[in-house]
Amino acid sequence: MRNPFLIGERLYLRPLEESDIPTCLRWINDPEVTRTLASYRPINELREREWFQGQYKNEHNIILAIALKGSDKHIGNIGLHGIDWKERQAELGIIIGEKDEWDKGYGSEAISLMLGYGFDRLGLHRIYLRVYENNLRAIRCYEKAGFRREGVMRESHFSEGRYWDTILMGLLEGEWRELQSKPGEGKLV
Ligand SMILES: CC(C)(COP(=O)(O)OP(=O)(O)OC[C@H]1O[C@@H](n2cnc3c(N)ncnc32)[C@H](O)[C@@H]1OP(=O)(O)O)[C@@H](O)C(=O)NCCC(=O)NCCS
Repeated sequence: MRNPFLIGERLYLRPLEESDIPTCLRWINDPEVTRTLASYRPINELREREWFQGQYKNEHNIILAIALKGSDKHIGNIGLHGIDWKERQAELGIIIGEKDEWDKGYGSEAISLMLGYGFDRLGLHRIYLRVYENNLRAIRCYEKAGFRREGVMRESHFSEGRYWDTILMGLLEGEWRELQSKPGEGKLV
């Protein structure tokens, strides 16, 4: 493992490095990966580098690389964004950019690690996220982690020639702790 920050069963989360930029650039320009993301513009290296520099200086964002334990393969990124230290909440974002690693439970494991960090280490009260209604894989993944549907922003996302709803999902610290005490539910590592 290289510079692990949070360690799970099959993967670990580590700080994102400047040398990771080419990999992130490949993901963020891949239409199959961005199909379910807000990102729609072509991203060049300069823009990606600026994004990276903005991230690590930003006290309200924490972004980590998701790497596989055996091979150190960098398969995606996960972050807590817009951390609000007064309301004690943050928005979760995740991308598994390596498409051949989808549906292997890695997204769920990375989310589980990040939730533990957010609630136990940062003392957050609520972690929320926004997901488009056509992203069934992500919705399943978030429900498995314990997120509940809190609301719908109707027809707020335009993609593939039509509008889609954005679903707001949230998880409270107390709910997460309750899931931790029940083996098999929302406890993925
Ligand atoms: C969404 C994402 C993070 C999920 O990560 P992952 O590692 O593929 O997810 P997991 O394997 O942990 O869980 C996926 C679940 O969805 C299920 N699933 C897959 N396709 C599905 C579909 N079309 N409908 C319903 N469920 C589906 C899987 O079977 C699995 O559930 P299970 O464990 O009960 O079998 C990842 O696919 C990704 O980064 N996608 C592109 C970017 C993106 O959409 N990010 C999220 C933006 S909100």
